[in-house]
Amino acid sequence: MTINVLIAGINGATANTVVVGTTLGVDRELTGGSILASLDPEQLTQFPSIEEIRFAGWDIGDGGDALDVAKKYDILPSSVLGRADAVPVNVYRPAVTAHDVEELAGALPILEAQDQVQGVRDNIKQFATASNSPSKSIVVYLAAPGKVVDQDVLDWNEGDFEVAIKSNDPRITSGMIYCYSALSEGCGFIDFTPTATLEIRALRDMAERLRLPIAGRDGSTGQTLLKSVIGEMMRNRSLKVDGWYSTNIIGNNDGLVLSRRDHAEIKTADKMDVLIPVLGYDDFDHVVDIRYYRPRGDNKESWDAVDFSGWHNQKMSFRIDWMGRDSILAAPLVLDLVRLVYRSMELERGGFQAHLDIYFKRPLGKGWRPFSHMYNDLKEQVKADSMN
Ligand SMILES: NC(=O)c1ccc[n+]([C@@H]2O[C@H](COP(=O)([O-])OP(=O)(O)OC[C@H]3O[C@@H](n4cnc5c(N)ncnc54)[C@H](O)[C@@H]3O)[C@@H](O)[C@H]2O)c1
Repeated sequence: MTINVLIAGINGATANTVVVGTTLGVDRELTGGSILASLDPEQLTQFPSIEEIRFAGWDIGDGGDALDVAKKYDILPSSVLGRADAVPVNVYRPAVTAHDVEELAGALPILEAQDQVQGVRDNIKQFATASNSPSKSIVVYLAAPGKVVDQDVLDWNEGDFEVAIKSNDPRITSGMIYCYSALSEGCGFIDFTPTATLEIRALRDMAERLRLPIAGRDGSTGQTLLKSVIGEMMRNRSLKVDGWYSTNIIGNNDGLVLSRRDHAEIKTADKMDVLIPVLGYDDFDHVVDIRYYRPRGDNKESWDAVDFSGWHNQKMSFRIDWMGRDSILAAPLVLDLVRLVYRSMELERGGFQAHLDIYFKRPLGKGWRPFSHMYNDLKEQVKADSMN
């Protein structure tokens, strides 16, 4: 069995790191940062292995061989990049250039929504046909962060959505096109980005009706992950958080896109919303600031200053300085998600996969809960799925 993984944004830093790091990686290197790798290996025998994955995708940027792209990013170590002369990958164009990414799309023509859907569906079919063994396909959305969408759009039912596609409604976003096309072609869909795609009723209903798994949104790789763990500890220790000040400096293309206020709005909201459900109260100050700072590149730095009160209301504080490599932290999570979603496809478990909430900043399954609870949910479901 083969897993066809088609990534929207395949030339981006995260996707390219996934593709090249997986293709050129050796066993031990591929477990660092994976949540699945921390579980009992006996329970993973029913899950596909990383070797069964083949990659393709779409991008609006300039392409080239994936290894050349990786060398420009300089994210993976040179010892890995030196293991091959090329990493050829199918990059499909013209890609989706819905209105939300018009300004990022450069000279590419803006197609009617129906034609964008048809193009994506054709590519998914083409790639599956080229597979030598029986295969299932999963679409992973790793393109630019989306903009906020109207409540009306979130409430669209399947019929409304069809009408919107046919009439080329300007509120249709790139994420919606990929998701709708993926589900129409019987694929699972993972949204690793801050976009409102999977909050749209029509797409959720479609996934449930077709028994196709969906998972999102916005991968939790650094600061939010820390908040979910440290917040849980503060709550269990009855240390009252009075304020949490978070800054992020990031110098990659994602940081550049996020420096546009309309693209940052969802990301900031995703980062803000973790603390209330984890702490169990909302009477504290919470500031989240994201800044593009080119010299930092993909090596994001985030600072957190936390003010809290203890016995007799005495005030204290602590600081965290997280220096994470964004794509290195994200890539193993994307691979985990692909393997987990694939297993859900085999079991025909459609709709949101609540056991995957641990992977996201805005978990759309059961919502935010302390990290240890989400870890437990994952562990239990993997155990159950290993017996099926
Ligand atoms: N790396 C992480 O730690 C992390 C964590 C959470 C979320 N994310 C999200 O994942 C996404 C990817 O991050 P990145 O650092 O790789 O960003 P990136 O800017 O390097 O890559 C995005 C890629 O998507 C392409 N693209 C944009 N619109 C497209 C479209 N409509 N169709 C096809 N391609 C399109 C761009 O050309 C670019 O190559 C971002 O939305 C980011 O916010 C990343």
